[in-house]
Amino acid sequence: MSKYVNETIKKIAPSGIRKFFDLANQMEDVVSLGVGEPDFETPWHIRQEAIYAIEHGYTFYTSNRGLDALRQEICKYYQRRFSLSYNWKEEVIVTVGASEGIDLTFRTILNPQDEVILLQPSYVAYEPLVTLAGGVSKIIELKEEHQFKLLPEQLEAAITDKTKILFLNFPSNPTGGIMTYEDYKALIPIIKKHDLLVLSDEIYAELSYDQTFVSIASFEEIKNQVIILNGFSKAYAMTGWRLGYLLAPRDIVTHMIKIHQYGIMCPSTISQYAAVEALKYGDNDCKMHKDSFEARRNFLVNNLNRIGLTCHMPQGAFYVFPSIKNTGLSSEEFAERLLQEQRVAVVPGSAFGTCGQGYIRISYAYSLNQLKEAIKRMERFMQQFNL
Ligand SMILES: Cc1ncc(COP(=O)(O)O)c(C=O)c1O
Repeated sequence: MSKYVNETIKKIAPSGIRKFFDLANQMEDVVSLGVGEPDFETPWHIRQEAIYAIEHGYTFYTSNRGLDALRQEICKYYQRRFSLSYNWKEEVIVTVGASEGIDLTFRTILNPQDEVILLQPSYVAYEPLVTLAGGVSKIIELKEEHQFKLLPEQLEAAITDKTKILFLNFPSNPTGGIMTYEDYKALIPIIKKHDLLVLSDEIYAELSYDQTFVSIASFEEIKNQVIILNGFSKAYAMTGWRLGYLLAPRDIVTHMIKIHQYGIMCPSTISQYAAVEALKYGDNDCKMHKDSFEARRNFLVNNLNRIGLTCHMPQGAFYVFPSIKNTGLSSEEFAERLLQEQRVAVVPGSAFGTCGQGYIRISYAYSLNQLKEAIKRMERFMQQFNL
């Protein structure tokens, strides 16, 4: 029956993460450190607001752009946390997770063959979504020795006369890399010179550990060339609520809303009421989640280095990206053997782009007890390499 299926879709490979974890799910006694999903339940006061919404019959469509109250809170939040000002009536769309925001943006902006600069290793959805929107991905490989930051010379070298979008994700999934104010400052003249549209996936903004998070939209001279993508999944432990948002210049939002309106209408009304509560009263929850992730990060990085897996200190998100090059195995071999021999599931770095070869991604969105058990097993696994 595949003769009916669109040719572009046929060529897209399924996510390397899912494939691997389907295998892990069929095995017993596996410590799985694969999925990028907080282990916390959504804070109770947020869940209560959703229950309240159901009890009071707030079960109708909202406006296509999202609840007024939610869009107002989103703008207050960006002002309060990052000193960025957006107009809630014209510059916000509430989306089905950051995921819809990413897809919506590519589909609104890209003409066939337009180029999008992607930084790899990167979140697995970006490249397929560029392809599905008819664009062409131009990959910049970020290096461990640069703490997985984007350097101005790398950006300049990747730009052609077809380049339209620069896609950023800091703190990064999978590397945990971040960009400081100074790091961004060096990119601004290039972005201006080539008139690039910048998409900034800021879903891990609240999970920045040693440095304060900086949005690239803070640079006034390019703010009207930036689209911010964010959501509630990570910082508020709300993955299953499927809620995110984007902040963009009014003239772009006017066109985005057409795709959203016809394809989605609006995200779940109940989730939107819960998200208002999260933004109004959830700062402490974010802080608690962040503190807990930071303790787990420190534990994991110290212990990975101790057992022979060199690991740069991730500055944000909830992933570590250690090198496994000294074992002589490929990322896939390492992940498969670790699973078969010690029942620990991690993701091969190559799932995040070819330059992820020689690395694995470990998520620390798991309890300290699980991380301790994983380290015990990984230490046994590493003994065979005599490092
Ligand atoms: C970098 C990044 N962006 C976006 C998403 C999607 O998030 P959401 O649940 O808001 O759709 C993820 C999820 O893992 C992610 O890691």
